Amino acid sequence: MGESSVVSPLKNFLAGGVGGACLLLAGHPLDTIKVRLQTQPISAHNVLYTGTYDCFRKTVSKEGLLGLYRGLGAPLAGVAPMMAISFFGFGLGKQLQQEDASKPLTRTQIFLSGCLAGVFTTVIVAPGERIKCLLQVQSTRGGSMYSGPVDCAVQLYKNQGLRSVYKGTVLTLIRDVPSSGLYFLTYESLKVLLTPEGQSVSQLSTPKILLAGGMAGILNWTIALPPDVLKSNFQTAADGRYRNLLDVLTTLLREEGATALYKGFNAVFLRAFPANAACFLGFEVALKGLNALVPDW
Ligand SMILES: *[C@@H]1O[C@H](CO)[C@@H](O)[C@H](O)[C@H]1NC(C)=O
Repeated sequence: MGESSVVSPLKNFLAGGVGGACLLLAGHPLDTIKVRLQTQPISAHNVLYTGTYDCFRKTVSKEGLLGLYRGLGAPLAGVAPMMAISFFGFGLGKQLQQEDASKPLTRTQIFLSGCLAGVFTTVIVAPGERIKCLLQVQSTRGGSMYSGPVDCAVQLYKNQGLRSVYKGTVLTLIRDVPSSGLYFLTYESLKVLLTPEGQSVSQLSTPKILLAGGMAGILNWTIALPPDVLKSNFQTAADGRYRNLLDVLTTLLREEGATALYKGFNAVFLRAFPANAACFLGFEVALKGLNALVPDW
């Protein structure tokens, strides 16, 4: 029998969790730097950090490499399960469409499987984002209505019901479904493209896996960022500020111009490549391990 391409959603789930942990381990240092730069006190005389590299250097020399990994716990508890669900949805989508294990799926089928992954993750991502965004902006708006994520969830639910907790779901779907499709399509297509004639995709070298994963992360964000900006605005707007989603878009374009749709570009892209390269490498290594340990799952 040739190389079988039977997909196991369960193995995808477990390997996806490993991938998510790797994504965070590779991406978190850049996030720490970003937040430290964003929040350093502004005084003209002694700027603490002059830029990204300076912040990196000072953090590592004062606190060691571990300094870059402060606050890892909370995102780890969120990102690893999210990537597990994402890869599970992707695996399920592939499995549902696969009629013959010896035939590779078409590009459209891979894209659709990735879209299904986006639907799955939205169930937990939408309320997570609503809460995160409200907490992130409450200090700049001068109040502290919520003492933390749980308090925020409880208050939203008590005051306005589940609908309020899930405010922004449609935008989250618009953001995550096509981008997730493109994410997985990019990865799988690049893997095929980078495989030398006559060799098997499953033997792809580590640098090529990293390249394919990193590019997948970049493309994901390229199409996800404009709806992300809309979503953040919508989810954090005072009730009644926007009539509907189109209203968010037209208001933003009128008040701030098209560049508003790519706010936060640098921070996001700097991190997307290494984080997603590590994610797919972790996923592939874990999947190989699982295939060797428990071939029948
Ligand atoms: C893809 O982009 C979305 C939306 O902006 C983001 O939430 C998600 O984490 C990204 N996926 C990965 C694996 O980077």
